[in-house]
Amino acid sequence: MGEKRERNHEYLEFGIHHVAMIMDGNGRWAQAQGKPRLEGHRQGVETVRMVVKETWDEKIPFLTLYSFSTENWRRPINEVQGLMQIFVEAIDRFANELHQNQVKVRFIGKKEGFPSHLIERMESLENLTEQNRGLTLNLALNYGGRDEILRAFRKFLQDSSNQGKEMNEETFRRYLDTGNQPDPDLLIRTGGEKRLSNYLLWQLAYSELYFTDVLWPDFSSQDYHRALADFVSRKRRFGGLG
Ligand code: IPE
Ligand code: IPE
Ligand code: MG
Repeated sequence: MGEKRERNHEYLEFGIHHVAMIMDGNGRWAQAQGKPRLEGHRQGVETVRMVVKETWDEKIPFLTLYSFSTENWRRPINEVQGLMQIFVEAIDRFANELHQNQVKVRFIGKKEGFPSHLIERMESLENLTEQNRGLTLNLALNYGGRDEILRAFRKFLQDSSNQGKEMNEETFRRYLDTGNQPDPDLLIRTGGEKRLSNYLLWQLAYSELYFTDVLWPDFSSQDYHRALADFVSRKRRFGGLG
């Protein structure tokens, strides 16, 4: 992101305001090279840096990355703890760079369950970048789509300003972790699986889905641009006749 590059308005004109990604395949990438799975997660951080930079360069305003699901707690304790350590290191390494580039970082999901030194870093990164008006980067950490919908439902009911008001799609969606952000136009899943794995279940209702076998640590800027170009060739109808 450092150097000033001419930003491309093309994708915005084609209606890409928000890209969501399921960053899958780190473990298999490592295993294929005879390395421990955590090495795959470490390498995956480099791909995160690349996609943030490319999204920013393309002037796409929202990017949401699935980093840890509510189901990922089922993994062996050493992998879970190793991932927490990688998140801590990544925040320490990139916080200033993100802020200097006007990136607004938000964590979606539940902060409960994480070690306090990670929660502190997550909160201070959100506070540091709160006023930034460049790319909004949502990091889905301890995130599950069903959990998010249930939490939103509870928040709606607890909000006294809703007394007597109708719950409809417009009034409800504001209580989701993504608030007033537009829904993702494009979902990219790396790593070959063709499922949503409890990701953004409400928000992905009408997103275009793109699956690639490329493992996340190998996902390159060319691969990203291939997915964006594929999106441009799609006809979105939203149930109408287009
Ligand atoms: C995705 O990679 C990253 C996280 C879930 C944290 P995986 O760890 O799921 O990699 P594979 O699917 O086992 O290869
Ligand atoms: C989805 O990947 C979660 C993240 C990328 C953070 P998983 O590897 O956990 O998904 P499943 O288990 O294959 O569905
Ligand atoms: Mg996986």
